Amino acid sequence: MQFRDRGFLVTGGGSGIGQQVCYAAAAEGARVAVGDLDHERAELTVAEIRRQKGEAHAFRVDVTQPGSVAGFIAAAETSLGRIDVLVNSAGIREIVSVLDLSFEEWRRVIDVNLSGTFLTSQAFARRLVQQGKTGQIVNLASTLGLMAAPNRAAYTASKHGVVGLTREMALELGERGIRVNAVAPGVVRTPLTERYFQDPAYAQAIRDIHALGRWAEPQEIARAILFLADEANGFVTGAVLTVDGGWTIGKKM
Ligand SMILES: NC(=O)c1ccc[n+]([C@@H]2O[C@H](COP(=O)([O-])OP(=O)(O)OC[C@H]3O[C@@H](n4cnc5c(N)ncnc54)[C@H](O)[C@@H]3O)[C@@H](O)[C@H]2O)c1
Repeated sequence: MQFRDRGFLVTGGGSGIGQQVCYAAAAEGARVAVGDLDHERAELTVAEIRRQKGEAHAFRVDVTQPGSVAGFIAAAETSLGRIDVLVNSAGIREIVSVLDLSFEEWRRVIDVNLSGTFLTSQAFARRLVQQGKTGQIVNLASTLGLMAAPNRAAYTASKHGVVGLTREMALELGERGIRVNAVAPGVVRTPLTERYFQDPAYAQAIRDIHALGRWAEPQEIARAILFLADEANGFVTGAVLTVDGGWTIGKKM
């Protein structure tokens, strides 16, 4: 088993990509701390892992609150016995033109996606450094961390920030044996994006932006995240791995 007895912490583990990371890591023998603002969803993820005879524990965490994040890292370590991998999958987005975007909405998206990734990664890395341990961090960037799309100013800015933070932390923490990487997914069918697929014309437009002519399932992103988390791939750091079905390689003519 790829991650036998490793301690995995996953924010946003109650839904979508984070949930699939929890399932995939547990299936590979990891002990998983499922953190989410929505505790009930985290509990559902844990129940499924336990049904499959895996080990998991649910925690309510608000990644925008330093105290909540500190509590999550400490409680996860107590429950799992060790911490090795952090996956920052908690995230939100707005769909509103830049002219109409309120400051409150801007701030909320930046708080969760960027400041939340910073706070959780910093707390996790501090704990590893205290213990003299190595570890892995995998962040959820996006194709919109590399390019823009309309009506997502805060989201696009936050994900560009996640790419910068990934590189910065990878650079500063590399000599301590802490690797920091990100995935940049294209459109993935999850509760975050579900309403895209209710409109057949929009669903077709989503297919069309990807070279592969389809969107992704969250399991496909989880596989890339586990690749980056795997110590067998230990020379990869500061990378932003596009898992985007060819969205960013060019425009179809
Ligand atoms: N779905 C996509 O197409 C897609 C594409 C690229 C990147 N991403 C990124 O992947 C990540 C996961 O997205 P998803 O599609 O699985 O979304 P999702 O909505 O299915 O899951 C996100 C989870 O984050 C949790 N969350 C929100 N705010 C939180 C907070 N303050 N503290 C803790 N948890 C919080 C939610 O409760 C939810 O369970 C996000 O960062 C998103 O931006 C998604």
